[in-house]
Amino acid sequence: MPANAAVRDYLLTRRSVGLAFLQEPGPDAGQLKTLLTIATRVPDHGKLAPWRLVVIDGDARAAAGEKLAQIAKAKNPAIEEAALNNERRQFLPAPLTIGVLSTAQEHVKIPQFEQLISAGNVALNLVHGAYALGFAAQWVTRWFAYDETAAAMLGARPGERFVGFVHIGTPTAVIEDRPRPDLDAVVTRWQG
Ligand SMILES: Cc1cc2nc3c(=O)[nH]c(=O)nc-3n(C[C@H](O)[C@H](O)[C@H](O)COP(=O)(O)O)c2cc1C
Repeated sequence: MPANAAVRDYLLTRRSVGLAFLQEPGPDAGQLKTLLTIATRVPDHGKLAPWRLVVIDGDARAAAGEKLAQIAKAKNPAIEEAALNNERRQFLPAPLTIGVLSTAQEHVKIPQFEQLISAGNVALNLVHGAYALGFAAQWVTRWFAYDETAAAMLGARPGERFVGFVHIGTPTAVIEDRPRPDLDAVVTRWQG
């Protein structure tokens, strides 16, 4: 396998762009298909494909935000209008958000833990795929990944859970990098 300097340099420098700084243009239909193909080409013990993806784009972004606001209001009738507006904008301004669901189930051989990790791989591959196509991305969860009513509204079926939502778009700002882990703190050499 020849060394791939472009991939190496990308992996050494990639950083997320906060979803508030993602705007149009987003991927077109062909790019979206490529992105989804990259996302689902992940390590997956037993070839179970223990995940599903939910695309939120176009008018669906505002519609999903409106439903989130309704759920937030039902949970907290005293919620302030500004907070409701934040809910309405959960899938804005990024032109594309892809929710990644873990569909992990009991299996004779493959632990659910491994199936869940595979879903995490899908989310990270979405991030990498977005950058490969010239966009930026951020993987977030937020409350609606964990709230049963909101997750169901966003497409989770019984027993499924969101591992996150990957927001994708064109960056409006150059993002400062953040400190990266000290390798000595996280790497040891096994010595028996
Ligand atoms: C499962 C998961 C959930 C995350 N949820 C959030 C979130 O809700 N809000 C947030 O600001 N960052 C969240 N992050 C962190 C961002 O994805 C990202 O790591 C962070 O913005 C730093 O960017 P980096 O990719 O340049 O390290 C989450 C990361 C993971 C793996």
